[in-house]
Amino acid sequence: MYAWCAMINSNAYKSPPTDHRLVLAPMEGVVDSVMRELLTTIGGYDRCVTEFVRISQTVLPSRVFYRLCPELATGGRTTAGTPVFVQLLGSNPNLMARNAQVAERLGAPGIDLNFGCPAKTVNKSHGGAVLLKTPDLLRAVCSEVRNAVAPKVPVTAKIRLGFEDDRQFEAIVNAAVDGGISELTVHAKTRRQGYRPPAHWSRLAQIAKESTIPIIANGELWSPTDVIRCGEVSRCNDFMLARGALCRPDLARAVRHTWQGLETPPMSWPEVFPLLQRYLRSNANTYEPQYACNPLKQWLVYLKHYFPQAGVLFSSVKRIKSFDEMDRALNTVAPPMSEAA
Ligand SMILES: Cc1cc2nc3c(=O)[nH]c(=O)nc-3n(C[C@H](O)[C@H](O)[C@H](O)COP(=O)(O)O)c2cc1C
Repeated sequence: MYAWCAMINSNAYKSPPTDHRLVLAPMEGVVDSVMRELLTTIGGYDRCVTEFVRISQTVLPSRVFYRLCPELATGGRTTAGTPVFVQLLGSNPNLMARNAQVAERLGAPGIDLNFGCPAKTVNKSHGGAVLLKTPDLLRAVCSEVRNAVAPKVPVTAKIRLGFEDDRQFEAIVNAAVDGGISELTVHAKTRRQGYRPPAHWSRLAQIAKESTIPIIANGELWSPTDVIRCGEVSRCNDFMLARGALCRPDLARAVRHTWQGLETPPMSWPEVFPLLQRYLRSNANTYEPQYACNPLKQWLVYLKHYFPQAGVLFSSVKRIKSFDEMDRALNTVAPPMSEAA
């Protein structure tokens, strides 16, 4: 799909099978097809999820699905072969089901339902986390979507612990499971808790033990140590990485190495830098010229949590708007490749 991936691909990490799986989280406006391509090429992910397809009044045309999931043109997989589930957000069971059928017809390897988005605008139009308040409606969405697509197409869902508090958590989980989904990701916070730490991993332990379907733990997984500790506390085998995956592009690979008892050095800044240059170029092919630099700046803001050099670079390029100028600026400060070894 993207020529630049060939280079990383030659070093791509092929995951040996383990009892655990890692999913790259959906992140609206951040984890688009370019970022999915980049991160899955570095390796370690079993699956990713698109940005959300907002379902409000109609059955959307194919082009909307292709725009948010260009991987549909290549069997619903990134170049590294990682399946990309199409994420639907909405509350009308029938419309959600009919749109899921479009995604299925276009070759989506799975459908993921968003019941976690905390955005006020989304919740006001009855999408995302607001459905946590009405487990019966959440169940209906799950079951209509499940029944609308072929059994071989997995339907998964992502929830939080609750809306205001976690008192309905078990009822919400039961509703999703009764609705027939095949896997459930839990962002271990309520909607009220937003994105603030901590994530309440221990709240997942009982359902992970009793559930008939896999429960995927999510929230505040920034390092391999976090993932190991989350597994111990939540009793989950599978994990979804979100912001941590952007701060540390090799996070999934590092987690897998830790599971295997391998000690490998983390990706260094000189190794990350060429990815930034290629990310910029891929975005120039994907977005209008005036927007091509924005994803890079956004990524630097995440990267600076792990690489102080990214913060320095961000300060020096944050006002640049043109692709050519940004490309030149990156070439000027590129660390020598010899440092990457
Ligand atoms: C910018 C941003 C966009 C997000 N978009 C989505 C989304 O479209 N669908 C969804 O289910 N979760 C979305 N999330 C939530 C993440 O998938 C994840 O649940 C959350 O960030 C917690 O994981 P973390 O603590 O590892 O970041 C988003 C989070 C962020 C920060």
